[in-house]
Amino acid sequence: MTQPAVRPPLPAQRLAGVASSPVRDLLALIDRPEVISFAGGLPAPELFDLDGLRAAFDRVLSTPAGRRHLQYAPTEGNADLRALVAARMTARGLRTGADDLLVTTGSQQGLTLIAAALLDPGAVVAVEEPTYLAALQCFQLAGCRIVTVRSDAEGIDPASLAEVLETDRPRLVYLVPTFANPTGRTLSAARRAEVAALAAEHGVWVVEDDPYGELRYRGEPVPALAAQPAAADRVLHLGSFSKIAAPGLRLGWVRTPATLRPALTVAKQAADLHTSTIDQAAAAAWLAGTDLDAHLEALRRAYAKRRDAMMTAMPATAPAGSVWTDPDGGMFTWLRVPGRAVDTAALLPAALARDVAFVPGAPFFAGRPDPATMRLSFTTHTPDEITEGMRRLAAVLRPAG
Ligand SMILES: Cc1ncc(COP(=O)(O)O)c(C=O)c1O
Repeated sequence: MTQPAVRPPLPAQRLAGVASSPVRDLLALIDRPEVISFAGGLPAPELFDLDGLRAAFDRVLSTPAGRRHLQYAPTEGNADLRALVAARMTARGLRTGADDLLVTTGSQQGLTLIAAALLDPGAVVAVEEPTYLAALQCFQLAGCRIVTVRSDAEGIDPASLAEVLETDRPRLVYLVPTFANPTGRTLSAARRAEVAALAAEHGVWVVEDDPYGELRYRGEPVPALAAQPAAADRVLHLGSFSKIAAPGLRLGWVRTPATLRPALTVAKQAADLHTSTIDQAAAAAWLAGTDLDAHLEALRRAYAKRRDAMMTAMPATAPAGSVWTDPDGGMFTWLRVPGRAVDTAALLPAALARDVAFVPGAPFFAGRPDPATMRLSFTTHTPDEITEGMRRLAAVLRPAG
């Protein structure tokens, strides 16, 4: 006799408040060659060092030690890779030893490991508003309560942070201080010092998520938040190969205070034992055999022209009264169109019908969204294509001309 079917249990409760990323959903929708997409946060594929990376994989697999690079490996990561990344960070002004680094499967995994190691369900996390969508997902999935801190043209507002630290007592503050996703803004040096002092005073962890710092197109570099002496023992600094080499490598790293190393290593063991051995070895070989400065200079030159094309077209694209960021680096500008009732999500179908795409701004807000905003990425099209894309977008944003 057959038993009546009993439904399998539902997904875990912790998924209840976590929506699928609208950006990733949108990327699936716009995968048509005729679309000029300002939606993704993708690096330009034609600028990947395909030959250099192919040669690096070939090199590490062709040596007698090649089989070792296909074996299980230590959780902390490839020693050569960590030494090379540490040397680069030190040269950029953030003194780092190989032992300070844990290699991760993309910096996104760094966020997951930090959440697993530091945040119990119900823990409070403070984020600047707006902020990186997948960080919000990660903290939501960990069962955290997210509180928001105001930001302006110079990044997070220290006065608002001080208030939130007093009132909500977060355990962790999450920031993208340099060429932020989604706004393109950079936290000024003076504000970094204020944030570091506040973190020290209130005893909170700070995550400095820095995938874009090497992509500066003008102006002087601002030292990392992790380099601020006041907060040196409480900033976790995340780096990534995604924007300087290729995101498909899924390679990133966490620079962690010594006290947190054991906890993060256990979280990493539980997550995936270690990041791909062969990918790490190839990345180390690529770094050792490439003139990284020359490669980055080529990226910066190309992206600067694309940024300029978008900025040049913006006044004729955005309706009168709009405001937008003019980023010194990174991949994004953030546009706010005027009017209380505007919802850029409602404009998206018309944009897609004209073969141009953007990301509506609302999902980047953990608190009350500002639906009149949108994120535009300038990295994946040539200046001419950007000019054409902005012309199409103008027809949507200011149809009367
Ligand atoms: C601010 C920020 N953090 C983390 C990531 C994830 O990067 P990765 O490819 O290293 O996982 C991104 C990707 O766009 C990002 O914008």
